[in-house]
Amino acid sequence: RWDDLIMVAPGSAKFIAHIAHAEATDLLTTVCLAATSPVAIAPAMNQAMWSKPGTQENLDTLKARGLHILGPAEGEQACGDIGPGRLLEPTELAELVAGMFETGILAGLKVTITAGPTREAIDPVRFISNHSSGKMGYAVAQAAIDAGARVTLISGPVNLQPPPHATFIQVESAEQMHQAALENNCDIFIGVAAVADYRPQQAADNKLKKSSADMQLVLVKNPDILTEIAGQKARPFCVGFAAETENLEHNAMTKLRSKNIDLIIANHATDTFNQDEALICAYWPEGKKEFAAASKSQLARELLRLIKDLMPH
Ligand code: C5P
Repeated sequence: RWDDLIMVAPGSAKFIAHIAHAEATDLLTTVCLAATSPVAIAPAMNQAMWSKPGTQENLDTLKARGLHILGPAEGEQACGDIGPGRLLEPTELAELVAGMFETGILAGLKVTITAGPTREAIDPVRFISNHSSGKMGYAVAQAAIDAGARVTLISGPVNLQPPPHATFIQVESAEQMHQAALENNCDIFIGVAAVADYRPQQAADNKLKKSSADMQLVLVKNPDILTEIAGQKARPFCVGFAAETENLEHNAMTKLRSKNIDLIIANHATDTFNQDEALICAYWPEGKKEFAAASKSQLARELLRLIKDLMPH
């Protein structure tokens, strides 16, 4: 049910006849009959079989029903005959199929997105983390896929299904997220993750015991992934998120400058975490845009449109 299109190549005379008569006689015809997605058939058969009125009538029936018939080519056949019925070349089929889809606004671009919280180990069973649900990051990833981008989603631990058609990298700690982000070149980098700013200097090898009345954890700073990506020589278009509890605009503008990024999205941390809706405002060096309250999916789509408009053409 996740498919965008079914292409049957090669489509034999027998398969075409079965499909024309809606006969689910085997797995292939059953899948095609049960599918709600478009079906394309690349016929391949002997030239005499191709020319038979029965075959041609079946093809007319299928075309009238909206199935896509790709080819066939003419030429030498496996049986030694010469004529129509050769399967189109795989590259021709790929191009024809690609042409059936609308190209989205991010077609041809590679987008890397970080999402969710990170977990910073204290010992093998305890960690420091935050309330990020990953919903916004996952919504941005889905919207980018829908816009035609090749998407890499680097995610901390969340309770969400990774979107199909994305390269999915599961991480736990900020350091792992940092590593994965640096290994993935892209055209647009969107840091939605709520990366822990600090981690315990030393994660204990064994579970810590409650022996003393108090205990102290020494925390060290995590690398700022977004700042580092934005500092690269050939850097992608960099987008950050600023979850704030006060002075939204001032804090967002400060982060835009200090991280040297292209765009920052400010939201109210307490209102947003684990919600399906959000209230956000975007700031960039020359302007700002307030978004009407909407679902995170809707906002993600509008956000990508803004990114596309702000990117150098
Ligand atoms: O400075 P602050 O953590 O508020 O900045 C938030 C933005 O920076 C988010 O886009 C977040 O994904 C990114 N960030 C990061 N690495 C960190 C901390 C934040 O990429 N260590």
